[in-house]
This record gives sequence, structure tokens and C-alpha cells, in this order.
Amino acid sequence: MTPPIIELAPAKLNLALHVRARRPDGYHELDTLFAFVTHGDRILVAPGAEDSFMIEGPFASALRATDDNLVLRARDAFREAFGVAQPVAITLVKHLPVASGIGGGSADAAATLRALARLEGVALDEPRLMRCAADLGSDVPACLLGRTARGQGRGEVLEPLDWPAGMPTLLVNPGVAVSTAAVFARWDGIDRGGLPSGDVLAMTRDGRNDLEPPARLLAPMIAHLLATLAEEPGCTLARMSGSGATCFALFETADARSAAAGRIRSAHPGWWCLETALS
Ligand code: C5P
Repeated sequence: MTPPIIELAPAKLNLALHVRARRPDGYHELDTLFAFVTHGDRILVAPGAEDSFMIEGPFASALRATDDNLVLRARDAFREAFGVAQPVAITLVKHLPVASGIGGGSADAAATLRALARLEGVALDEPRLMRCAADLGSDVPACLLGRTARGQGRGEVLEPLDWPAGMPTLLVNPGVAVSTAAVFARWDGIDRGGLPSGDVLAMTRDGRNDLEPPARLLAPMIAHLLATLAEEPGCTLARMSGSGATCFALFETADARSAAAGRIRSAHPGWWCLETALS
């Protein structure tokens, strides 16, 4: 049997997320800084006698393997764009919490596109692949690119940026799922300006997440979570990612990150906590 193609679907962070305008098409004009961590979901794709789709892993029960799953939508979009019909067995190993601002579904869709491209011998920089990604969701192009980038438009206009990998990072989700559309709908409509100038570190430090206030209205726990992270020794920045509720904290050292993770896990056993690093 051919071994499956395995693609990591790394968690996406918005190091900063500035909302500029509500558009007539219902989307919002963004200026955001995308980054990725070294941990994420996993997609396995193998040629099969017929199509199949399975979801495994710690967060498998939060999702149903139905046709509206972004993984199957990515498979179908790829087939249509490239005119291929080979049946495939797809497995999603779900390690990331669902509806949590770290791009889980978008990362899974992008990893599915990458795996199918490898299976069919399609180059990863093929423009049709990026078009499939943009049709699947606002964060999917950034996840397909998979590296630190400034994102504008609704998130699909990307400018890759250099950034030293490895910064120790902690991701924490307080166990609340928030709907991206519901958070955007509560944005106050005030344009507070685009990303500040400077390198990635300066843009991160001097930037903000404009979706934090509306997300806090839906999940007040986010304020408590951010305060908890900011108080941890060695934490240089604590901020919400995307539309929440997952927040990230950047640390000076891996030891400081692990000590913080230990304290948070014992004080809040219900919170999801991932020790990782920016890639
Ligand atoms: O593009 P995606 O399907 O991931 O977006 C989910 C929802 O988030 C959209 O239906 C829209 O309500 C909101 N959204 C937005 N502006 C963006 C991205 C997402 O309003 N730039």
C-alpha cells in the first residue's frame, strides 16, 4: 500500500489585526500580521478505491465529517481547478480547538490543498492553488503560504516578511468557541489606522487586535485570560488571535513559557494550553 502524504496544518496567529472598514460584500478590510507556530493539526491523504474522510485526535468530537467540512470543500475545489478525479482517503488529526481564532479549519483546508498538490505533482506556487485557497476562506491563502506575512484586503493580499523563527509562545483557549462572523458583526466601525511601521517585532509590539473588544462582549473570560497571561514572568506580549477566543503570549525564554504553562494548567484545568514556538 502507498504510504499516505502527511501535511502539517500549523496553527495561525494574528500577531496584530487592524480592522479598517466594513465592505459592501459583508467582509471587512484588514491590515494584519499572520504568523505560524510549530504545532498544529495533521492531514493524511492516500489514493483509495473510493473517497473517504475520517477525523481523529483530541478535538475530533467537535467536528462532523460532513460535506461542509473545509477539508472536503478543499478536496472538491482542487479537483475542479485541476480536473482530477482520483479517489482519496483523507484523515484529519485534530489537535487544535475549533472556532478559536487560530485558523484550525483554514489550516486544514490549506494542508489538504498542499497534500493533493503533492499527490498530483502540482507545484505549490501554482496560481490556481492560491485561487482555490482564496475561495475557501479569508485565512486560507495565508495558511497555504504558511509563513509570516502581512495580510490586507480580506486577508488574501499577502506580503511575506522575514522574521527570526523560534520565539517561545504559549497558546491558551478558555474553552469558549466564538463565531468569527458574530465577532466581526460587533466591531464598532471605527478605523483606528493600519499596522504601525517597522519590522515584524515593532509591528507586533505597537499593533493591536481590533476584534478583542467585540470578542470580549461575547466571551468576557477573554479579559481575565489576557490579564493572567500578561502577569506571567518573562511574558513580553499577550494578545488575542483572530476573532478569539484563543490568546497567545510571547516569552523571553522556553523555561519562562513552560513555568507559565504549568501554573495556568493547575489553576485552570479546563483551559487548553499549548507550549509551542513561532516558526
Ligand atoms: O472568509 P471566512 O469564511 O473565513 O470568514 C468567516 C466570516 O468572518 C465571514 O462570513 C465574515 O462574516 C467574517 N469576515 C469578515 N471579514 C474578513 C474575514 C472574515 O467580515 N476579512
